[in-house]
Amino acid sequence: MALESHAVTAAHWSVEQYREAFSSAGPTRLFLVIEEGAIVQGFLAARVVDREWEIENIAIAGSARRRGLGTRLLGEFLNTAHSQGGQAVFLEVRESNLAARKLYEKWAFVESGRRPGYYQGPHEDAITYRLDLR
Ligand SMILES: CC(C)(COP(=O)(O)OP(=O)(O)OC[C@H]1O[C@@H](n2cnc3c(N)ncnc32)[C@H](O)[C@@H]1OP(=O)(O)O)[C@@H](O)C(=O)NCCC(=O)NCCS
Repeated sequence: MALESHAVTAAHWSVEQYREAFSSAGPTRLFLVIEEGAIVQGFLAARVVDREWEIENIAIAGSARRRGLGTRLLGEFLNTAHSQGGQAVFLEVRESNLAARKLYEKWAFVESGRRPGYYQGPHEDAITYRLDLR
């Protein structure tokens, strides 16, 4: 949560939302953490329903960005999703979040739509992306 709270463009969850995400109720989730030494430098959260994955969040600590950690984290996730029989991955991102959009496009995600006014604070459209794993 400390890492996420410093990543302004990340999705922000409350303690209750994290507790619920780690409980056995609800959809199956995958959380990946990337560490250097004993320091958590980033994480990715995703959930799966019927072989379709949704990336819910990805964040790398501010001081550790632009060193390929996000690329590794996302690559590890895609390998895992594929090896577990996943067929597609979806996500949405703020239109202005060029760093994240470049990261997704680097892994061959393609734009699939727009959700007008999807985000608040600040108000902004979401761009949706999809990657076919088959
Ligand atoms: C998006 C994020 C996870 C990328 O992590 P990262 O470790 O810095 O990414 P990488 O170093 O692996 O870079 C991957 C690619 O993303 C792009 N990229 C990353 N940061 C960028 C920036 N500031 N500006 C432009 N492109 C950028 C580049 O294309 C880069 O590839 P390249 O280095 O070969 O040019 C990171 O910026 C972050 O945590 N942002 C805040 C949280 C967030 O917005 N999450 C997304 C929610 S949908």
